[in-house]
Amino acid sequence: MPPSIALPAPSADELAHSARLSAAIRDEIVVHGALDFARYMERALYAPGLGYYSAGRTKFGAAGDFVTAPELGDVFARCVARALAPALGGGRCVLELGAGSGAFAADALREWARIDALPDAYWILETSADLRERQAALLAARVPQLAARVQWLDAPPAAPWRGALFANEVIDALPVRAFAWRDEGLFERCVDVDTEDRLCWRERAADAELKAAFAAAIEAPDELPRPYRSELLPQLGAWFAAVAGAMESGIALFVDYGYPRREYYLPQRSDGTLICHYRHRAHADPLWMPGLSDITAFVDFTAVAEAGWRAGLQPACYASQAQFLFANGLAEIGDTSAPNGAVEQLRLAQQVRRLTLPGEMGERFKALAFTRAFDPALAPWMGIDQSMRL
Ligand SMILES: C[S@@+](CC[C@H](N)C(=O)[O-])C[C@H]1O[C@@H](n2cnc3c(N)ncnc32)[C@H](O)[C@@H]1O
Repeated sequence: MPPSIALPAPSADELAHSARLSAAIRDEIVVHGALDFARYMERALYAPGLGYYSAGRTKFGAAGDFVTAPELGDVFARCVARALAPALGGGRCVLELGAGSGAFAADALREWARIDALPDAYWILETSADLRERQAALLAARVPQLAARVQWLDAPPAAPWRGALFANEVIDALPVRAFAWRDEGLFERCVDVDTEDRLCWRERAADAELKAAFAAAIEAPDELPRPYRSELLPQLGAWFAAVAGAMESGIALFVDYGYPRREYYLPQRSDGTLICHYRHRAHADPLWMPGLSDITAFVDFTAVAEAGWRAGLQPACYASQAQFLFANGLAEIGDTSAPNGAVEQLRLAQQVRRLTLPGEMGERFKALAFTRAFDPALAPWMGIDQSMRL
């Protein structure tokens, strides 16, 4: 079934590409049976050479499917660089997860050079081989004098390290399990093939892991309307421990869109939080043309705080993106970047508006920072903390 909103027609190449990925997914279903949604999402986004993030088309910015904060200009990266600076210098490193086009890394490195807080090394952990290549090319072009500090890791660092970990819009791209809560009980929403060989949704009884994740996340299931569909990320704890476990001291900062748990599983959100992007249109059908749309789910920030806590980090600051950016020099950066001419000034004003207005990214996006063996007094911006909302 096509999404109910009109989407731009894919090109012949895109149709052929999606058909190849669909065929590979259908083959897997024939061998293993219906796939849980997390497995489907993993294949749709990251299947080598075929998944949305693994194949060659531009994803980020005006020519792609969606715009992230670092793609709007350098203001976001400069504020984040200032926020993380107290954890850097003197042999410290930065680990960026899911670096997208590489724009954040380039702008942040430039800012650290400007404020004399350059990390010794800048590590990128990136699932997509195609994006790694694009990141390397962008860094070599934009910051050739700093690009030698950047290294791509194949796995999270195993040896203890100190510095800062950063991820923008990565948790929303982690494969989620999808559930349906019905009068008859809890069901897993899976992806199967129908009698006409098309991908379709299929439900099966939930397994123990999904039941445990549901029970942990949803305090009063009887108060939800039924059927109630939504998403859970049971592997978040293991993922967090893997990426941040070896950080001996420093700050870990995650920026993403989402809610605290008590605002996540609300009765009115009975169709869940899955959202797909294709050429700057949002739609809600992740089975449409696999490989062509980005697929994401909103982040349960309470679950992220718990995962960090279990991994031995201290939740230190939770704030809206707007509050976070203002606490890290947004106004000053806007004033001092003194763009030449009216067009640049207008662009800067637009960038700041997109980043901070409540109807844009300002409220929907949140920043959640953790510390480990790090004195939060060294990062006064953490004083804006609203983690009591989590
Ligand atoms: C929505 S994009 C965000 C990109 C970038 N951070 C930005 O803000 O423009 C998600 C990124 O995370 C990467 N990614 C997804 N899962 C990942 C994982 N488990 N480890 C590392 N990178 C991952 C994707 O390949 C992509 O680069």
